[in-house]
Amino acid sequence: MSSQIDHLLNEDRRFAPPADFAANAVGTADLYSRASEDRDAFWAEQARQLHWHRPFTEVLDWTNPPFAQWFADGALNVAYNCLDRHVEAGYGDRVALLWEGEPGDQRQVTYAELTAEVKRVANVMEGLGIGQGDRVAIYLPMIPEAIAAMLAVARIGAVHSVVFGGFSADSLRSRIDDAGARLVITADGGYRKGKVSPLKPAVDQALAAASNRSEQETVEHVLVVKRGGNRVKWVEDRDIWWHDVVPQASPEHEAQAFPAENPLFILYTSGTTGKPKGILHTSGGYLTQAAFTNRVVHDIRPESDVFWCTADIGWITGHSYVAYGPLANGATQVLYEGTPDSPHPARWWELVEKYGVTILYTAPTAIRSFMKTGRSALENYDLSSIRLLGSVGEPINPEAWMWYHDVIGGHVAPIVDTWWQTETGAIMISALPGVTALKPGSAQVPIPGIGVDVVDESGEHVGNGNGGLLVLTEPWPSMLRGIWGDPERFVETYWEKFRDRGYYFAGDGARLDDDGDVWLLGRVDDVMNVSGHRLSTTEIESALVAHEATAEAAVVGAADETTGQAVVAFVILKESFLRAHSPEGLAQQLRLWVGEQIGPIARPRDIYIVSELPKTRSGKIMRRLLRDVAEGRDVGDTTTLADTAVMSVISAQVR
Ligand code: WTA
Repeated sequence: MSSQIDHLLNEDRRFAPPADFAANAVGTADLYSRASEDRDAFWAEQARQLHWHRPFTEVLDWTNPPFAQWFADGALNVAYNCLDRHVEAGYGDRVALLWEGEPGDQRQVTYAELTAEVKRVANVMEGLGIGQGDRVAIYLPMIPEAIAAMLAVARIGAVHSVVFGGFSADSLRSRIDDAGARLVITADGGYRKGKVSPLKPAVDQALAAASNRSEQETVEHVLVVKRGGNRVKWVEDRDIWWHDVVPQASPEHEAQAFPAENPLFILYTSGTTGKPKGILHTSGGYLTQAAFTNRVVHDIRPESDVFWCTADIGWITGHSYVAYGPLANGATQVLYEGTPDSPHPARWWELVEKYGVTILYTAPTAIRSFMKTGRSALENYDLSSIRLLGSVGEPINPEAWMWYHDVIGGHVAPIVDTWWQTETGAIMISALPGVTALKPGSAQVPIPGIGVDVVDESGEHVGNGNGGLLVLTEPWPSMLRGIWGDPERFVETYWEKFRDRGYYFAGDGARLDDDGDVWLLGRVDDVMNVSGHRLSTTEIESALVAHEATAEAAVVGAADETTGQAVVAFVILKESFLRAHSPEGLAQQLRLWVGEQIGPIARPRDIYIVSELPKTRSGKIMRRLLRDVAEGRDVGDTTTLADTAVMSVISAQVR
């Protein structure tokens, strides 16, 4: 980490907001002073930008920390806020979704059309007996129906659990079981990398497997969108084609008001143990902060902007800045089904030109992979519509920042580097593009109304120029309300470490520069960040040892030029398997196995077959040493190992 810090310390470029941008920016400097004068009043003011069926009188209830309640006596309907109110205000003809499928098919969906569709889907779901508090799993490609499904669930006060389409049947099953979902919404398949990637078979497989769900928590129906045209098996009485029921349903559906703290969604994310955590978000506070940050950080002007957040709805970024933020603000956005390089390496830039995208929000991994492809792939496209760029999911290195700024942003578009997490629900640290002078590589400052600090192990502020642990010092509206079904884990994971001070521990290392700006340094726990996706070392280790050939496994995240980090596994195989198979063959089998168990994103880049793992005298695996090997460095201090010779054995085997 220290070489990284030295490198960042040398970064002294500054980019002041362009004058015309600053003059017209949505987010202005007075937001900071207003928020610091009276935080609660500030957030109440933001919340009042939404429509409340019953206005709230309380702002924050923090009498039982860390269980917060925001706007608790108010009632609203999240979908009404994202749809009906824009139609009622006369914007029904405005395009909500500029959708493009990977094969090039297109659909434009106006706010009036999306509202009617969501009402139909809400009626269908209610007809299937789904209501307030019920959980609905969504396993869909990036098609307009995915957005409609999420909003329809929200409309009836139910709780969605979106599962990324790249996750395996096993991962899907554990998420369906943990949430106790009663309905699954999926598609036959969707387009990825030039071909149809099936989804329904994974749902069938997930539901066929035995589970210990109670009768109230059994999946009764599977609603299936026809998208890929691939053949699917059909379970009578359980499976329903979307096109058989949705178009026929009534487009009338009155939005009921639900309490501000009504659960809105569960989203599973990797933690430091093998079991993904179901992060729970509720309605009023979440929508307030998602919409607010989308306005002031992304500088959205709904009447003129074309916003494009490239995240999949399977991740939090797709929840807050595809489904909820932009729609709550009545914005027009691009929705793209496929991969960035299909069918050609400049597909994204073709879309930017075609739809006149003005604001682009994406991850550093994507930027670095375009850097690799080179500028020539972009030269034929006019990107001059872009006026603001955003980055999310992992630290953006200054080189990638400069490339993004110069090549995509035409040397002028500001870049907001936004730090946040599934747990925080919305952006927490970011520049305001019309206010802040930008520093490439730094996420910089907490947004107005948010309390951030960098502290040492005892919770003491480290002071400018020093590194430590990132904490959030105050509750915030879109904070997670818990881990589904596991309040103890919630307290222990995020609040135990700095319990005396009431700080939320984010799991990230960070440094404050001389101006007090925040530089993120990556996770300090056993969570990896691969292409901006969170993966747990333990989860992958569990998958590896579940294979019959594996005796022991250790996984580390090793630095990777393109993906930020890459999964590298060290595996000890059982003697019997080693005798019967080649190590290369077994390593390849294991890679595929992890893909099946968790999903292709979790497949290790490298698997090293070794005969030993470095352990302390108490038997703890020292991953730090394995990371040294994986990154090709000299191995660090080995004195606490039970057997100090083991690292030279491993190094030799890896070479
Ligand atoms: C990392 C994604 C540096 C961080 C929204 C965090 C970042 C984890 C940034 C959350 C950023 C996210 N700079 N690191 N701008 N944004 N991270 O839950 O380690 O998928 O803890 O949420 O991503 O990942 P998650």
